[in-house]
Amino acid sequence: MRKKVIAGNWKMNMLPNETIEYIEKLSKLVKDTKNEVILCVPYTDLFYALLTAQNTNIKIGAQNMHFEEKGAYTGEISPQMLKSINVEYVIIGHSERRQYYNETDETVNKKLKSAHKVGLKPIVCVGETLEQREEGKTSDVITKQTALALEGLNEKEVEETIIAYEPIWAIGTGKTATSEDANESIKEIRKEIARKYGQQTAERVIIQYGGSVKSKNAKELFSMSDIDGGLVGGASLDAEEFSKIVNFDK
Ligand code: 13P
Repeated sequence: MRKKVIAGNWKMNMLPNETIEYIEKLSKLVKDTKNEVILCVPYTDLFYALLTAQNTNIKIGAQNMHFEEKGAYTGEISPQMLKSINVEYVIIGHSERRQYYNETDETVNKKLKSAHKVGLKPIVCVGETLEQREEGKTSDVITKQTALALEGLNEKEVEETIIAYEPIWAIGTGKTATSEDANESIKEIRKEIARKYGQQTAERVIIQYGGSVKSKNAKELFSMSDIDGGLVGGASLDAEEFSKIVNFDK
């Protein structure tokens, strides 16, 4: 049985004092959950988040990183830097980064490889645009993105990669994919993994849904056969609302 993994993506929100207050509050609200709880916070909050989350069941992640170990890349953060302060997770290839910062399937793949090299657990995002969906290309787009992202990883690394299926038209719009549609897309992704890495690996990979997840729709989405939790943007900014999403099965 795969466990449910609920991750908050704060995007470019929250200051250190808000981070400390939030995690102190959230940790009390989610202390009894069996689900995995992750917060992906801005770089400037990482240190505070890690300290405040010590001795809780909340794991901390970053939202991006460079694929190189070090070098002349002004303004960038390396996988080793994240690892050195005990960050556990990192989001790779979020659609906002693909859209605004020229992330490509190739850089996403390089980043996945270097995350695994240092033992960071990547959460890689895939998802179609509204146009692609309307043209009936959803399955093609998401299976191709998945295949290119995972290219060259071994089975163990694939198993240790979380995939977040985030249809771009559902992000921050209040529009959610129906639970059936989301489940179908995630099944397609799992099928692609099975084709390349075998059924056993595919059955073990955590695949989340992301896009306007809220406490009101979490239970319906996360109860589907192939949806193993969620990557939550806006609704993760409020500790109480996020705790209800984490505790969807209570
Ligand atoms: P929203 O939950 O705000 O739609 O954002 C989803 C997302 O992009 C998470 O990575």
